[in-house]
Amino acid sequence: MSTRLRTVVFPVAGLGTRFLPATKVVPKEMLPLMDRPLIQWAADEAVAAGADTLVFVVNRNKRAINDHFDTAFELEQRLERGGKQSLLKIVRETLPAHVKPVFVLQPEAHGLGHAVLCARPAVGEGPFGVILPDDFILNRTGPGALAQMAAVQAREGGSVIAVEPVDWKDTARYGIVSGDEVSECLMRLSGIVEKPRPDVAPSNLGVVGRYVLDKRIFDLLERTQRGAGGEIQLTDAIATLLGEQPVYAYRFQGTRYDCGSKLGYVQATIRLALEDPEIGSELRASLPSLTQR
Ligand code: UTP
Repeated sequence: MSTRLRTVVFPVAGLGTRFLPATKVVPKEMLPLMDRPLIQWAADEAVAAGADTLVFVVNRNKRAINDHFDTAFELEQRLERGGKQSLLKIVRETLPAHVKPVFVLQPEAHGLGHAVLCARPAVGEGPFGVILPDDFILNRTGPGALAQMAAVQAREGGSVIAVEPVDWKDTARYGIVSGDEVSECLMRLSGIVEKPRPDVAPSNLGVVGRYVLDKRIFDLLERTQRGAGGEIQLTDAIATLLGEQPVYAYRFQGTRYDCGSKLGYVQATIRLALEDPEIGSELRASLPSLTQR
């Protein structure tokens, strides 16, 4: 049953309207958390989970993501001439040598499900991962969220989606799941609904941006009609998938920050900055003066 997770898909063709005007020219995924863009944190998590093919589903305005993982010839030459070896290493190793980036165009933003479907020709054998880079998950005590999910999939088979308890008042912002508990952090799904109001939500377990999916999902996405917001929803295809084969909801170890929202983005930045060996203690010392205003 165990298959290595080789391909991870990054649907990054959304418009990023919540960060305008910052995202008018700069893709949301290029916004930095400390010194690394969101897309770099996500790529690192995929590589740590064993992936060797990273499929970026982009639109025409996301050229910077392509450039980020490409060779920066002039910059590298300068750093090399200046003897700046450690910076050169950082610039060169946005991806390890054995990892291949692939760029796929989503011509129009028809939704997350449609973006995943666009990746189909680039996805190899076996189950594949999906990471939404604006859901940043930090786990300082063990493997990253996607590596945890790959291990669950290798053990249980089927598909695995990441969930966490959300505030009941916020259920209408998430896909919400229901099902039967397999263990403390694992549930076999019996249902999934996109953005239900709190009074009709089957639970407060919300889907967050990590999935390990069986390739059957592509056939189902082909047939999925436009759902909530006129978009092709990944949730709707997963709802059909769970009628055919096991789909598990997994409560990952780690803390998630919704970096698609201003609050989550700032919280993640503050957390990383406070833990940073270079600036952490100075920042901590300056916090009282920042909060007294
Ligand atoms: P969001 O709902 O966060 O939308 O998409 P968004 O456009 O990125 O941001 P806002 O809400 O306008 O600020 C969830 C994920 O799905 C991708 C996005 O890039 C993001 O990673 N997505 C969404 C696509 O790739 N294509 C789409 O058509 C829609």
